[in-house]
Amino acid sequence: MQKFVITGGHPLSGEVRIAGAKNAVLKMMAAAVLTDDRCTLRNVPKISDVAIMREVMTDIGFDVRRVNGDALELQAHDVAWPFVPLEAALKMRASFILLGPMLTRFGRVILPNPGGDRIGRRPVNFHVAAMEAMGATIVYRNGYYFASAPTRGLRGAHIEFPIVTVMGTENAMLAATLAQGTTVIDNAAREPEVDDLIAMLDAMGARIERTAERRIEVEGVASLRGADHRVLGDRLEAETFAIAAAITRGEVTLTGIKPQHLASFLEVCDRMGVAHEADAAASTLRILPSHGALRAVDVQTDPYPGFATDFQAPLSVLLTQATGVSTVHETIFEDRMDHARELVKMGASIELVDERRARITGPTPLHGAEVGIADLRAGATLILAALAATGTSVISGIEHVDRGYEQIEAKLVALGAQINRIEA
Ligand code: EPZ
Repeated sequence: MQKFVITGGHPLSGEVRIAGAKNAVLKMMAAAVLTDDRCTLRNVPKISDVAIMREVMTDIGFDVRRVNGDALELQAHDVAWPFVPLEAALKMRASFILLGPMLTRFGRVILPNPGGDRIGRRPVNFHVAAMEAMGATIVYRNGYYFASAPTRGLRGAHIEFPIVTVMGTENAMLAATLAQGTTVIDNAAREPEVDDLIAMLDAMGARIERTAERRIEVEGVASLRGADHRVLGDRLEAETFAIAAAITRGEVTLTGIKPQHLASFLEVCDRMGVAHEADAAASTLRILPSHGALRAVDVQTDPYPGFATDFQAPLSVLLTQATGVSTVHETIFEDRMDHARELVKMGASIELVDERRARITGPTPLHGAEVGIADLRAGATLILAALAATGTSVISGIEHVDRGYEQIEAKLVALGAQINRIEA
């Protein structure tokens, strides 16, 4: 088990390059299933979720090679077994994104029920319903989904999701690209990662378009070609580093990120009094030392373009330093407040009104502590708190952070943080 040892109190300064988006690249790797041609993905982050997806695709029969540092080349080899191994699914829920592409390309696939991870039940009923609407037969037995398409392949359908689901939207899109006829997806997700996937599918020859804010239309085609696609910057990593700068009263420039993808976060920064400068043309965001006290705010998570649920836990650290009482309302997941308990150990004043609402009173000085968490974003949250705390913190469970953050300690050390990784 590895841990981070962090000594806080150092204002961060300098420049940090934001890596490619985890929640885009995993789906783009799955999109490579749709063609026999080679696909090249660039700006691929070095994170363990990419390694897991690479392992799964290799098991299925794909060649997946990392070339010159930040690119991946993927090509279907002999896809012998359309079967996603259980251990991958248990490690990474995103492996379920193989359902749509495998079903529409090979006519059948067996996947484990990915279940939830720490942030809630996270069923996949909307994914299954979307595939069935397109003619698939899906049987759930002993923890596995056995999915098959009609011999003529999937057919286009009108799919309306009861609530916005990011991967549900993406599974439906991927399946529709090779289905017969037109698919209309309503109440579709609008995250930037979804639109980046649409851009890649378009480059592969798919006939796919977002025809309204929450409507995506796909005209199925007989086959798709390979593509060479650059993955967009990770807005979730960007938010984490922006908060690291703000909470240490430092001055940091983030590069490789479209500030417009952080609009809901920057709106909260404006209400709190966090100084920042965005340059959309240069794809940079600069966080400046804020003068005076930060202001408490009320925040509610919503599907994009609302305030992202993945932004919620990291922001709560900043709210512990704001003057007044802030409220955080998590509307997407039913169990995404575990970080509160750990922040309280470090001196925060957080009251959980219920499993979805927290009341944060600040400012409270944070002090080092031994903390740990089994969730990617909450893990990043504890790192942020340790950077702001006086004294030294020891954070366990950092393998969860490695799932979604590329070389986080190297990037933080380069900005002046005192952090190192130890074998515990
Ligand atoms: C994606 O998860 C992201 N993961 C999550 O990021 C992100 O928090 C989430 O979208 C935001 O909505 C990836 O893209 C790999 P959903 P996803 O389907 O698609 C319910 C991170 O830290 N639901 O949008 O799995 C679900 O329980 C991760 O990078 C059903 O009920 O989430 C949730 O309450 C964490 N049935 C809501 O919908 C379904 O079939 C939104 O979930 C599907 C979802």
